[in-house]
Formats: sequence, structure tokens, C-alpha cells
Amino acid sequence: MTILILGGQGNLGTQLVKTFSTDDSVVSWDRSDLDVLDFEQLAINIKELTPELIINAVAFNAVDACEDPKVYPLAQQLNSKLPAFLADLALQQGITLIHYSSDYVFNGTKLKTSFSEKEVANPINKYGETKAQGEREISVRATRGLKYYLIRTSKLFGPPGSSPQAKVSFFELMLGLAQKQSELAIVDEELSCFTYTVDLAQATKKLWKSKMPSGKYHLVNTGPVTWYAAAQELFRLKKMIVQLRPLRSEDLLRVARRPKFSILQNTKTKKLRPWQEALQEYLNN
Ligand SMILES: NC(=O)c1ccc[n+]([C@@H]2O[C@H](COP(=O)([O-])OP(=O)(O)OC[C@H]3O[C@@H](n4cnc5c(N)ncnc54)[C@H](OP(=O)(O)O)[C@@H]3O)[C@@H](O)[C@H]2O)c1
Repeated sequence: MTILILGGQGNLGTQLVKTFSTDDSVVSWDRSDLDVLDFEQLAINIKELTPELIINAVAFNAVDACEDPKVYPLAQQLNSKLPAFLADLALQQGITLIHYSSDYVFNGTKLKTSFSEKEVANPINKYGETKAQGEREISVRATRGLKYYLIRTSKLFGPPGSSPQAKVSFFELMLGLAQKQSELAIVDEELSCFTYTVDLAQATKKLWKSKMPSGKYHLVNTGPVTWYAAAQELFRLKKMIVQLRPLRSEDLLRVARRPKFSILQNTKTKKLRPWQEALQEYLNN
């Protein structure tokens, strides 16, 4: 059986390639192999490969950049048009599609802090809009018989992706800043769940291997936390004394708004371990 992974050099993609390769034949295409937005060529290559499963880990993840009208079209292509194209092809050829979405499709307020898989997307920023569009494209094809897993996740961290462009995770960023600054000011809001890419890749494989029904799944490590409280735990585990100052979301100048609450509830499958345990393992390795 062949599994095709797109974006296999990204932070999650790198772990997906590692995890799925232990049992199956994995083919991973990145920018140097082909332009994922050249849909004609992508269709030819996929038809030749005849994979049983396509995992799409490609995304445009620069949340603030998505607010720029000049950048937004690219985000839309990668986060919405690409999954729509893959869903069409998967439907035609009887391939299962795994695609990832984000807690940023939700708009959390004090009255609504957590979201089950059934909740309707209602984003408050442009990045969330493109991810919600991608979700809708898949849901439409699902009504026509697409076999799929749409996995929402949040706050990824883990070993860096193999791509030179791989984004630095929050924890690596904090460790780097702590070397340079005597005090770190960190947002003590935006409550949601961290997710260890190693755990997410394994949980994704389990969904596929155990033939769970097609649908939306929420896969995050257990235990919602703010950025500030997560940094406190990081430095506690590292036994580092770092002065931390809590900020409100509004205090940090960012172009895009972030949901104040976006806790993803996993009501359909085995919950992942607490994020603190996953973080400890990451730091040990
Ligand atoms: N990171 C988070 O905290 C987070 C939170 C919630 C949901 N998610 C979702 O989880 C999934 C994986 O995220 P991630 O953090 O692992 O992403 P990532 O590290 O940014 O990787 C994204 C992948 O997409 C590829 N890509 C981006 N633009 C491309 C383009 N124009 N042409 C070809 N390839 C392109 C990248 O290739 P290059 O390496 O060559 O650029 C990379 O392989 C995404 O669907 C994301 O929306 C992530």
C-alpha cells in the first residue's frame, strides 16, 4: 500500500513521514519535487502513483500575514483550493484523504470556551477563514461519498520539521528569548491546547489503521493552558529561573485577532496524554 504525504518536510509532516513509514510505503513530495498548486501536474503524478491514502500537511500558517490582502490569495490557494482539489481527486479515485485544520476556525468568547467536533466554524481572522473554507470544501465532497479524516488541532510543538523554512515552535522561541532577555512578557489569555506533533502523527495513524468512521476529529494533548502558563511550565521543567510578566492579548501588537478561548474537545476517540507529559518527553529528547 502506498501513502502519499504532501508537506512532508513541515513540522507535522516530518513526524507523519516518520510514523507512517514504519509500516507502509510512504511517498513524500515537497516543493523541490513539484508545485502543489500546479493542479494539472499534481493530478498526473497522483494518478501515476495510485496511493491508497493522501495526507495533506501543506498549509499557509502565517496567521498575521494572512490579513495582508496581497498575501491572502496564496493562503486561500493553499488552505482551501488545494484541499478542494485533493478531495475531488480522492473522491474520483476512491482514495482516503486526511487533512488538518485549526482551532482558529472558532471564535471563543467567555460564554463559549470549548468546541466539540460538531460545532460550526465561525472564525475571527483571515487565516481562520481560509482554514474554514478548506473544511467546507471537504464537507461538501463528504456528502458525495468522500472517505476522509478532517483533523482539527492546535498549538503544535515538537522536533523541528526537516524543511529549512520550518517554523520555530513556541517553546523553542521561549528558550531562545530567555537567553537574550532578563524578562519575558507573555500573553496570559488565548486558552487552548498544545499538541505534540509526535503524538498527533501517532494518533492520526491510529485513526486510519483502526478504520474509524470518516469525519471530523479533534486531536490535541489534554489540558488547556495560556501561553504564559505554558512558559511557566517549560521553565519549571528546564529548572531555569526566568522572570515572566503576563500580558493581555490586546497588549501584544499583532495584526490578526486571536480567539480568547479555543479549546478543542475530543469526544470521538481516545484522548491524547496531558501536554505537560508530552513536553517533558520532548525536552528529554
Ligand atoms: N502550527 C500550528 O500550531 C498549527 C495549529 C493548528 C493547526 N495547524 C495545522 O496543522 C497542519 C500542519 O501544520 P505545520 O505547523 O506542521 O505546518 P508547517 O510546518 O508550516 O508546514 C507546512 C508545509 O506546507 C508546505 N508549504 C507551504 N507553502 C507551500 C507552497 N507554496 N508550496 C508548497 N508547499 C508549501 C511547507 O513547505 P516548506 O517547508 O517548503 O515551506 C511545509 O512542508 C496545517 O494544516 C496547519 O494549518 C497547525
